[in-house]
Amino acid sequence: MREVGIGLLGLGNVGGPFARQLAERAEALAAETGVRPRIARALVRDPSRRRELPAGLSEALGTDPAALLRDPAIEIVVELLGGLEPAGSLVAEAIARGKHVVTANKLLLAERGEELFGAAAARGVALRYEGAVCGGLPIVRILREALEGDEVLAVHGVVNGTTNYVLGRMGEAGASLEEALREAQAKGYAEADPTLDVSGGDAAQKLCLIAGLAFGVRVRQGELLVEGIERVTPRDFEAARELGCVVKLLAVARREGERLDLRVHPAMVPERGPLASIRGALNGLLVETRALGPLVLSAPGAGGEATASAVLADVLDVARLGGAAALPFSGRAPARLVPRAEIVSAYHLRFTVDDAPGVLAGLTAALGRRGISIAALHQRERREASEGPVTLVSLTHRAREGDVLAAVTEIDALPTTRAPTRLVRVEVEGALAPWRP
Ligand SMILES: NC(=O)c1ccc[n+]([C@@H]2O[C@H](COP(=O)([O-])OP(=O)(O)OC[C@H]3O[C@@H](n4cnc5c(N)ncnc54)[C@H](OP(=O)(O)O)[C@@H]3O)[C@@H](O)[C@H]2O)c1
Repeated sequence: MREVGIGLLGLGNVGGPFARQLAERAEALAAETGVRPRIARALVRDPSRRRELPAGLSEALGTDPAALLRDPAIEIVVELLGGLEPAGSLVAEAIARGKHVVTANKLLLAERGEELFGAAAARGVALRYEGAVCGGLPIVRILREALEGDEVLAVHGVVNGTTNYVLGRMGEAGASLEEALREAQAKGYAEADPTLDVSGGDAAQKLCLIAGLAFGVRVRQGELLVEGIERVTPRDFEAARELGCVVKLLAVARREGERLDLRVHPAMVPERGPLASIRGALNGLLVETRALGPLVLSAPGAGGEATASAVLADVLDVARLGGAAALPFSGRAPARLVPRAEIVSAYHLRFTVDDAPGVLAGLTAALGRRGISIAALHQRERREASEGPVTLVSLTHRAREGDVLAAVTEIDALPTTRAPTRLVRVEVEGALAPWRP
């Protein structure tokens, strides 16, 4: 039996369950794998805080990261502090000292992944991060190991549980964004400051990691088209229902020839398709590959227990295999991205216009001049018999986004247009189309 020393950085929402899961499973794992991972030291900010710890761990608590990193008994450093510092310096130093690292810190990987993976490769140590991408959903392993021999064509995902819960409550219960966010916070799905979730930033960080894995390229968050859910309204859900769709915050990574279409934004997707069933705070991914076709995955994308189980799986791999458990991070080559104007999608457009002769002709002319063809167009019934603007709802066939934006700009400048046109992308084709039983 080989004992493998672990230095645990952080005993919070993820670190606590990790320590407990490891303690509960230690005997069975030792019997199954022949290695016994043991937490030799654990770093916290405040050791006096009351914590429920597995037997023996309280003696291992400390506040001195240098002592932990110098300890020759520690082979694997598990970073569950969060944030960029001191997590970044400690991970870099652990690698420099020849220790393997397992982390769930997607922010750190998004900011310094290239440098840290380069250092780990040069030092011959593993840097594993399953818990950093969609919590308990083992997408890193699937992309890097299970699908290694196949070619990934596209990944579509619901990768932020908070916004998925919020959009679900808005769509199903008619809650406002604020109400749904408060509910998500009360249930522990949303942070006190949910900005990173609501703005799409968290989903974009995950998408960068997924795209790196799926396509072997380097992507930075600032390069992506990222729109959050701030502007999603009850009317969008109504319109989605009329189309047989639901509204999701969709992450897209799709190969388009030599380029990649990478984006995060609210989108209407078919209610009988594979992503609509990703409900509540779950995460879900639809991976399309050349040989396999579509593969659908769903799991809790966050939460201490689910994330800890992903971290533990990485730790066990590294404990068994050492440096051979290293997974390449992503290619060195920067991704060539499809520019926003060249994205192709169908669009739901909602016009607020005067109820007057010739208005419709003005709209269709602006769209038609740019080759945008309309799949459906109808006038919303007035809720009250009163004078004033009317709402025209249309669905386009697939069109270039640059053309759609230009048409909308022209339409919004017409004297008969009363409010800015609402635009929501509609993704109903390919593997996202409704599935037949
Ligand atoms: N929570 C989730 O559902 C989830 C899901 C996926 C990924 N992650 C990632 O997992 C990581 C950890 O998240 P978490 O939710 O577990 O965080 P957390 O609950 O805030 O826990 C952080 C832990 O790190 C310790 N710590 C923080 N700064 C420290 C410092 N400067 N020196 C010493 N100790 C320090 C804290 O010590 P004290 O206990 O003494 O305060 C605490 O034990 C983050 O990278 C996060 O993004 C979390």
